Amino acid sequence: MPNSQPINFAHRGASGYCPENTMAAFAKALELGANGIETDVQMTKDGRLVLIHDETLKRTAGADVWVKDITFDELQKLDAGSWYDERFAGERVPALEELLELVRGTDTIVNIELKNGLVPYPELESKVIAAVREFKWEDRTIISSFNHYSLALCNQLAPEIATGVLYMEGLYRPWEYAAAFGASALHPYRYTVKAEWVAEAAAKGISCNPFTVNEPDEMIRLIEAGVSGIITDYPDRLAALLRRN
Ligand code: G3P
Ligand code: CA
Repeated sequence: MPNSQPINFAHRGASGYCPENTMAAFAKALELGANGIETDVQMTKDGRLVLIHDETLKRTAGADVWVKDITFDELQKLDAGSWYDERFAGERVPALEELLELVRGTDTIVNIELKNGLVPYPELESKVIAAVREFKWEDRTIISSFNHYSLALCNQLAPEIATGVLYMEGLYRPWEYAAAFGASALHPYRYTVKAEWVAEAAAKGISCNPFTVNEPDEMIRLIEAGVSGIITDYPDRLAALLRRN
């Protein structure tokens, strides 16, 4: 994934302006200058891959139901936009394929976070890989997760697709940890990123895409540290900074 500037990953789409993980948020991200989209994937009762952050539908679709307990058709009847603003009434929880269709024909990098820390979705890894391969998006995909066992499995099943290690606390020599199971990127919580190790990781072939960075001063600090991407709710802010460089 050659890039002279950090990749501008819109976190859950342009979630600073639209209801997260909706088609409206993904389209807005591209409009605002993002060249990467971060999203969260889970699985419905009937095995469809859907883009939603929480394990239940309560916060963003007003239904006290788990994603794992609802069928895709039932899910499509729920409104995933009104909780944010009435202007977005009727937005749905999209399928992964809808996002891949949206970015087809662009250069957008898709950062698909496997949300399987709480619910062990069967074959989530192989199903995501199959969808990415169907759309021939292997070169423009990063599969990320806090579940590092899942990432190791992805690296075995699809060594051609990059994986990103999500973590919150400071790890010691994190690039060595990532390389131990074949991951090629670190996705650290922003506070833990230090310029002194970003360069060393990059020299070992491990890139660094911190999350979730919304303040321009922090974006500048991380750009100067040499990160390969930044995950933000406000891709327009990052795009404006990158235009200056
Ligand atoms: O990909 C980084 C970030 O999305 C991880 O945290 O909770 O927003 O999914 P969360
Ligand atoms: Ca996420």
